[in-house]
Amino acid sequence: MAIAQSIDKNPTELDDVPGWFPPLDQLLFTWFLERQEKGGFRGDLVELGVYMGRSAILLGRHRQDDEEFTVCDLFGGEAPDGANQAETAKSYSSLSRQAFERNYLSFHDTLPRVLEAPSSVISSEVKPGTCRFVHIDASHLYEHVRDDIGAARDLLLPEGVVVLDDFRSEHTPGVSVATWEAVLNRGLRPICLSTQKLYGTWGDPEPVQEELLVMLEERTDIGLSVQDAAGHRLVRARANKGLQAPPFPHSRHYTPPEPQQPAAPAPTPAAVPAPAAVPAPASVPAPRRPRSRARRIGVDLMPPILTRAVRRTLANRSR
Ligand SMILES: C[S@@+](CC[C@H](N)C(=O)[O-])C[C@H]1O[C@@H](n2cnc3c(N)ncnc32)[C@H](O)[C@@H]1O
Repeated sequence: MAIAQSIDKNPTELDDVPGWFPPLDQLLFTWFLERQEKGGFRGDLVELGVYMGRSAILLGRHRQDDEEFTVCDLFGGEAPDGANQAETAKSYSSLSRQAFERNYLSFHDTLPRVLEAPSSVISSEVKPGTCRFVHIDASHLYEHVRDDIGAARDLLLPEGVVVLDDFRSEHTPGVSVATWEAVLNRGLRPICLSTQKLYGTWGDPEPVQEELLVMLEERTDIGLSVQDAAGHRLVRARANKGLQAPPFPHSRHYTPPEPQQPAAPAPTPAAVPAPAAVPAPASVPAPRRPRSRARRIGVDLMPPILTRAVRRTLANRSR
């Protein structure tokens, strides 16, 4: 998938950070994390595969004071096998740890705990049974995803949430196989599916699904369908046209626009200048020139019959 955002620019908005994190998933992450926070559910956060930090920046905003956020990425370093090396060289060649950290610190005062290593190290770096949310978005190759799912199961608290990226993209069949294998054989219970991600738990999905359905049913900008498959209730959410990501604070590089100059007040009627004299249209008769005083007296002193004759003559002349 092409990256439209600039790699080198300091981001001012989350959407300026290059990556793959659509509005619907931003909304679902926010909903799941806020639900845990409101319910007093505490635990650490983990992301495997951060790229330039787009989803990590949102996740980091939900870290509570007593929680740790750990991220893990190769950051262009050596991959554990040739297929993974080819995958990262093809898709993430412009990635550097420095770029991730610069982006992250544009939105946060401190970095998460950063592991520059293959995702397989996560089980030895984070204690089992300590996490409330794990996002798996590293390699797309079956063996790696299978192991990342196994690690997530060990790291998560009983009602913790795991999110699997690209579980049904055309170019990532290995993620699909690993995901549905985990659902059918390894106890993973789907909570919901977005276009790009599967949200699941090894706990009981029903209470969270019920709450999620209430939220989704109220929204006209999200399409919803519910299906059953192999004994699992699959809640499927799809972005309708116009769906916006939830508001996210600007980065420290954001400069608010200059306040607009107040518009000049409309002139009061008294101050309106008199319109310029408009030449009279041709059809309007020109005003009569006033008669001279001598002419007026002369006409007034004549006998009436003569006066009328003179007036008629004068009137005809001035037409
Ligand atoms: C799809 S990107 C992550 C996207 C990111 N979560 C976002 O929201 O934009 C996948 C990342 O996984 C990393 N990666 C690939 N294979 C890995 C492995 N075996 N271990 C750790 N990270 C890996 C790549 O370097 C890349 O940064």
